[in-house]
This record gives sequence, structure tokens and C-alpha cells, in this order.
Amino acid sequence: MNERLLQLFRENPDRYLSGEQISRQLGVSRTAIWKHIQELKQAGFEIEAVPRLGYRLLHSSPLLVADDIRARLATRRFGRRLHLLGETDSTQRVALELARNGAEEGTLVIAERQTAGRGRMGRSWHSPAGKGIYMSLILKPDLPLHQAPQLTLLTSVAVVRAIRMLVPKVDVQIKWPNDLLVRGRKLCGILLESSAENERLQHVVAGIGISVNLSEEDYPEELRSIATSLRMESGETVNRAELIAQCMAQLEQWYEVYLQQGFPPIRTLWEAYAETIGRKVSIRSGGRTVTGLAIGLDDYGGLIVDTGDGGNQTIYTWDNDSG
Ligand code: BTN
Repeated sequence: MNERLLQLFRENPDRYLSGEQISRQLGVSRTAIWKHIQELKQAGFEIEAVPRLGYRLLHSSPLLVADDIRARLATRRFGRRLHLLGETDSTQRVALELARNGAEEGTLVIAERQTAGRGRMGRSWHSPAGKGIYMSLILKPDLPLHQAPQLTLLTSVAVVRAIRMLVPKVDVQIKWPNDLLVRGRKLCGILLESSAENERLQHVVAGIGISVNLSEEDYPEELRSIATSLRMESGETVNRAELIAQCMAQLEQWYEVYLQQGFPPIRTLWEAYAETIGRKVSIRSGGRTVTGLAIGLDDYGGLIVDTGDGGNQTIYTWDNDSG
């Protein structure tokens, strides 16, 4: 109900909606509407009530509210099953457990705060309350295990597109394999964890951490020079619920394209968004360091590096130990 009410407000931006109008559109009594308005106010929404004019939504809640996220979703499946947690150790841990217990594809776990956010290579992910997006999406593709890295690249492409759509002035790019950077500073990290049987994927959990509204003082000293947030880059507070919905829309769209057409469309997009392509790189991989010019992705999602000695070398994420 609150979801439909929020949708109605959003379809009528800046307009007053009378109790009667809302009650007609949503098919509930005016008393029920009043009750739902109070609920939304308690959840942090600012709603103005003017006698004879009606209600007007002034500001969305600064906290994440499940009905608000649902009201913004344009997807068929992704994000529709939503677990919104105030605090958890890691949304990855929660989502992996849900997936093992049969949760359906598209189930999304979000937390306002993580106490033990996981990063790649056993690192941690700084997850202060109410400022970032910490979410894990369950996928259940019927694919061989060796295609899992392509899903990692797909996830970075989808999140870049969502960010570019919502905050176009921020020039976000991908750094091999799946860090999202702005002006060389890390804005978003992506971590895919999967389980497989007989060389086929059973489930994959795509973990996405985006630094949305953090300020410099929200970072510990050691991250200040290497991390950034959308707010720090754009000077504006970004609506997290809207960005979550946009990520879900992009992920669902490109996941379907990938299942129908395979990796080539994702590869083209990844290469277009990657700062890595055309640059000199030095990447530690499988115990060695490969240095040369990054020229593109191969059919499996490996990075092809021209090492200048007449040969190319391809680096795969699964033996990448550089981070
Ligand atoms: C990286 O090291 O760059 C990957 C960071 C991934 C962080 C996200 S936040 C949501 C999800 N839950 C976790 O514990 N980690 C991922």
C-alpha cells in the first residue's frame, strides 16, 4: 500500500493530491490514507498536508525504505524479493545463505550498515551507516562455471550505466577487472561469489558496494587519498533508493541480453567504459606480473595485454591476485 502511495506521489511530482483523489485511485478509505501518510512520515518522508488541497511529497526519507525502493523498480524480477536489513555483518553472507536455501533469482539483500563488509582478496569493505549502498543480488544462471567471470564484467557494466544515468556529471570508469573509479579514486567495488556442482554454476551472488553520500570524514585516514563518493564528486546528495532501482534495471536488462546473445555485447560495453583499454598496465596474476598495453577482452572475458615482445598475454580474473 505504501508502495502504491509513493508511486502515486512520484507520478505527480510537486502536485497536491487530495485525500479523495488518492482514495479513488488506490481504492482505500480516506482514514486508511491518513494512516499510511503517518507511517511514511515516521519512516522519514516529509509530506506536507494542506487543508482543501491535500498531500504533497516534499522529500523522500534519507533512510532506505523497502516500499520506496519497490515503488521505483522498473524490473520484472530483480529486486522484487527484497530483504532490507538495518545492520548485518555482510549482505554477501546473508544472500549466499538465502541462495543455498532456495531463494529465487533476483532476490536482493540490502543493508544500511555492514559490520564485516567483504572485499576482494580477503580485504574488508568500509560500510558506514546510511551513506552507501551495500547490496547482494542472487543469480541462478544455467551456465558452465568458467563463464562466472563474464558475470563480473556484466555487473560492472550495469552499475556504470546506472551511475552515469543518474549522476551524468560524474565520469565513472572501469578499472580491470571490476573496480569503478572516478579520477583514479575508487567509487564502487564488486565481488562475485558462486557455488558450482559438476562444473556448472548453481548460484552466483553479485555483491555491490557503492560510496554514495560519504564525505571525506566518513573514511578512515588510510582510504582518504584513494577513495571517493558520488557526493564528493558531484557536490550533490544522491538518492540511494533511486540508484538501487536503476542498478536493478540495468542488471536485469543486460543479464537478459547476455543469456540470449552471449558475451559479445557485454564485451563491447565493458571495453567502452574501461579506462584500462589503450593504457599501459602492470598486473600481478597467478604469481607473475604482466606488463604491457591492454588491448581488449577475449571471448571468455580475459584481458589481452600486448607485452611488446611480439606476443600477447591474456589475464583472467580467477588467477588475478593483484586486486
Ligand atoms: C572490492 O573489494 O572491491 C569488492 C567490494 C564489494 C563490497 C560489497 S558491499 C555489498 C556486498 N557485501 C559484502 O560484504 N561485500 C559486497
